[in-house]
Amino acid sequence: MAVVEPGQRDVANVQGGGGSAMMGASSDPGTDDLAIVMPRMGGPEVLQTVHRPAPRPAAGGAVVRVEAAGVSFAEVQMLRGRYFMQPRFPFVPGYDLVGTVEAVGAGADAALVGRRVAALTQTGAWAERVALPTATLAPVPAGLESAEAVAAVTNGVTAWQMVHRSARVRPGQTVVVHGAAGGVGTLLVQLARRAGAAVIGTASAAKHDAVRALGATPIDYRAGDVPAQVRALAPRGVAAVFDHVGGPGLVDSWRMLGRGGVLVSYGSASTLHGTGHRLRPYLPIVGRILLWNLLPNGRRATFYFVQRWPKHFREDLATVLALLAAGEIEAHVARRLPLVRATEALALLDAGAVTGKVVLLPGDDAGEG
Ligand SMILES: NC(=O)c1ccc[n+]([C@@H]2O[C@H](COP(=O)([O-])OP(=O)(O)OC[C@H]3O[C@@H](n4cnc5c(N)ncnc54)[C@H](OP(=O)(O)O)[C@@H]3O)[C@@H](O)[C@H]2O)c1
Repeated sequence: MAVVEPGQRDVANVQGGGGSAMMGASSDPGTDDLAIVMPRMGGPEVLQTVHRPAPRPAAGGAVVRVEAAGVSFAEVQMLRGRYFMQPRFPFVPGYDLVGTVEAVGAGADAALVGRRVAALTQTGAWAERVALPTATLAPVPAGLESAEAVAAVTNGVTAWQMVHRSARVRPGQTVVVHGAAGGVGTLLVQLARRAGAAVIGTASAAKHDAVRALGATPIDYRAGDVPAQVRALAPRGVAAVFDHVGGPGLVDSWRMLGRGGVLVSYGSASTLHGTGHRLRPYLPIVGRILLWNLLPNGRRATFYFVQRWPKHFREDLATVLALLAAGEIEAHVARRLPLVRATEALALLDAGAVTGKVVLLPGDDAGEG
């Protein structure tokens, strides 16, 4: 990883972090912040650590001192130029954060200063400070550790909205969760179990104990006929399938549904190493979903994409964080690494070497854990 000394690199035009955060404005010209930049496509080693002026809050906005930032599969896809909403290089990655409001801009509620908040940034969170609109900040319950809380921001809202808003899972149903040992998958399993459903979870064999511990029945997606194994467990079909894999397997997921069932497609992990335009893998997904919904077959399909602005986002994030604080769900933190070790953090995810969330800690005292 290239560590750039203060003044050696002008990052004023690097995207990510909420507008004025990246415009080169500095409240104190002597204050430098660290941020991680993804400069181009490549492997995790292309990441750069840069110094940049500390951001200032915009009108109606706040500056958040980041305590924990999440590392997600989205950044692995961004690194390959394969993300659904691919940002232009160079940019500061970082899909979500938990931190403390340090300052607010004109017109923003001054009482926010000192509050712990969570936000879904999509890019920009791998930094010491981030400027954000206050409307995007959700409160973090007291007593919830920052790394644990950030593990449930994007993954938790995504899982909550798919279980309760897209599929409306009910007691007595059986559902299939693909990637049940992953960040979103572990939360999908827990929330579906909490909603009263039985869960069948696909995962590689080494992670089956972790899937069982969450209360799901594991299936090895790398060996054998997955649809046949699901049929053996649920002969009349399942009520919902949560599919982040896409590709040809989406048809298998559709066929697993029983009458009244719903397929929730939310990614295309199987096409990470594909070629051609990044949106190409999504065209067959959208086409199939439209076709399946037109046919009178008593089942439906939908595509889910988490968004930070719609009205339910803050409400759903607050619900998820409250469940986490109450110990009703768990967001497993696999590794805590200092911000400057972002390359290592992304390499862990790229290699599929972790079960749970990898979290970056920007603080001075950030130790490994
Ligand atoms: N649409 C949205 O709004 C949204 C939001 C968040 C995330 N996502 C998507 O959700 C996916 C998961 O993200 P994450 O952060 O949870 O990643 P993660 O922690 O790396 O988990 C991904 C999991 O996918 C599993 N997997 C890979 N190929 C598979 C296959 N063919 N069949 C079944 N499972 C497979 C892996 O299982 P093993 O390790 O057991 O091999 C791994 O546990 C990503 O594709 C991401 O882009 C979408």
